[in-house]
Amino acid sequence: MLKSFKLRNLDVFPNTILSPMDGVTDAPFRRLCRVLSGNRMGLLVSEFVPTDGDAVFCLDGHKQLKFFPEERPFGIQIFGRFPDKMAAAAKKIAENLHPEFIEVNAGCPAPKVAGKGSGSGLLRDLPRLQEILHDVRAALDNSNVDIPLTLKCRIGWDDQSINVMETLKIAEGEGVEMLTVHGRTRLQGYNGLANWDWIGKVAAAAKIPVIGNGDVNSVATARERLETYGVSGVSIGRGAMHNPWIFGQIADAWEGKPERQMTAIETLDVFPLYYNFKLEDGSTEMGALGRLKQLAARLCKGFVNPEFDAENDAGMQVRQTLLTAQTAAEFFDRLQALKEGFASNMLFSPDRLINLNGAKETELRFGDQFAGR
Ligand SMILES: Cc1cc2nc3c(=O)[nH]c(=O)nc-3n(C[C@H](O)[C@H](O)[C@H](O)COP(=O)(O)O)c2cc1C
Repeated sequence: MLKSFKLRNLDVFPNTILSPMDGVTDAPFRRLCRVLSGNRMGLLVSEFVPTDGDAVFCLDGHKQLKFFPEERPFGIQIFGRFPDKMAAAAKKIAENLHPEFIEVNAGCPAPKVAGKGSGSGLLRDLPRLQEILHDVRAALDNSNVDIPLTLKCRIGWDDQSINVMETLKIAEGEGVEMLTVHGRTRLQGYNGLANWDWIGKVAAAAKIPVIGNGDVNSVATARERLETYGVSGVSIGRGAMHNPWIFGQIADAWEGKPERQMTAIETLDVFPLYYNFKLEDGSTEMGALGRLKQLAARLCKGFVNPEFDAENDAGMQVRQTLLTAQTAAEFFDRLQALKEGFASNMLFSPDRLINLNGAKETELRFGDQFAGR
């Protein structure tokens, strides 16, 4: 099983990527994951940066471009449907911000993106995707830096039009140096489970590193995906919200260190850390509180009370307590009360979650998502 891969001359160890998530993986969230991992994350990527809107791409107008030197190796992801605008944005970003790579997004399913023909909309128009990759690569070649171009895509638009093998061929032909494949179609959104068989087929056919993406939420799933599907690495999105320690846990496993069971109390201490990172980054109190709740909504799903039976959702009660706080002060008061009382003997076991669909999980029969508990 691979534990590292090469992106051009860069050794990426461990072979993990924090998958970009718009509205989630900003600099403070990335910092949180980085700190909790002991700085052992393979690659970090920006939230996607729009290029369609600006007549002339303007660095100042895009908060997603902000990153810190400690985040390197760092990639900046752009999206759009106009080859000339994508190329101009890539050149300006590369020359001014010097990221380690530029990534094109061909995966976003949101109607306002895909419906207009960018993001996963490009999978319905592969000639356009090819033109974008060609022009972006040419712009990077004409710039004063020499960095890799990477691509992130889904397996296709819908089940009837899976075209990820064609996407791979186009990408390789246009000089793309790493392909991350999210194993869902656009139509799937974030529902169901990712189709790793397709990811495996791409990895087997590819000359470039292929990174598998979809539903990796534990050391065990990361290991299983790497072993079974022959990918060069795994990209982890929602799994990092359920468990921001996941990168450190994978690094520990790759380094032969023992697995550590965490208590709920240790886990809850992540909230003041994250809050301070948000404030240091210039967030308002309410803005930071929103992000605390966003994290709590997922993270608390991992809580189990060993004294309860399997049907009792211990995390739900913690979640409700935190999500209904009106101010940051109230959030932290409640957090302290939970640590001293209700949550004091809970364990943190996010590995039992197999479906990371957030709200959609309510559509599953209770129990489906907690197999093996
Ligand atoms: C809230 C949210 C925002 C996302 N934003 C982006 C994005 O900006 N760029 C991108 O390539 N993928 C984006 N994604 C997709 C993820 O990077 C990832 O491909 C997807 O969540 C599947 O991986 P996972 O099962 O590990 O979460 C987003 C996903 C979510 C849930």
